[in-house]
Amino acid sequence: MAKDMKISLSEITLRPYRTSDVDEFLIYGGDDKVTRFTRWNTFTSKEEALFYIKDYCIPHPYCRSICIGDRSIGFIIVVPHSGEDRCRADVGYALASEYWGQGITTKAVKMAITEGLKEFPDVVRFQALVEFENKASQRVLDKLGFLEESVMRKYSFNKGQTRDMVMYSLLSTDPMP
Ligand SMILES: CC(C)(COP(=O)(O)OP(=O)(O)OC[C@H]1O[C@@H](n2cnc3c(N)ncnc32)[C@H](O)[C@@H]1OP(=O)(O)O)[C@@H](O)C(=O)NCCC(=O)NCCS
Repeated sequence: MAKDMKISLSEITLRPYRTSDVDEFLIYGGDDKVTRFTRWNTFTSKEEALFYIKDYCIPHPYCRSICIGDRSIGFIIVVPHSGEDRCRADVGYALASEYWGQGITTKAVKMAITEGLKEFPDVVRFQALVEFENKASQRVLDKLGFLEESVMRKYSFNKGQTRDMVMYSLLSTDPMP
């Protein structure tokens, strides 16, 4: 597919990962532009990516491949907490850089939250912690009606440096556009 081809958002689907996604996973998981703001270090080999898909993505309660048709172009997770914290779930995502700026992640997060509400009935709060510098991700959450709650200074390490993080949340009762 040509790099600049405009994607129709109706083509976007979410599905569980398969080991056969490994080559496509490496396109985004192996791209420093994508991993700059993720907890991942850039994947450097097919073996490493395959291990991650088998060991993390497939057994995960909600780790989905963002797809065009059936082709993996990105990653999205909903991580429900447990025990007294089972009312909340973290949301995380990444998209192959050639598809940025077309509204694909915004659509995928909306789909994941809709599915998450069904799969995890105790969850009433979806939250995302985003690096202060990660304006594209903040914009995704803004567009979906997430509330920016606070800036948490020097909250965590990423790529060896402490980062200021912004906490966003969306409640199950909040309207999603
Ligand atoms: C964050 C990310 C998933 C966004 O994916 P995407 O499909 O391009 O997102 P969308 O197209 O739905 O929305 C992006 C919005 O950010 C805006 N944006 C992009 N770069 C921006 C910047 N530097 N400053 C402000 N806004 C920016 C876009 O214009 C768009 O807003 P608009 O629709 O009002 O024009 C993608 O950039 C990515 O994979 N980044 C690396 C991984 C990552 O950061 N994951 C999130 C960790 S919290």
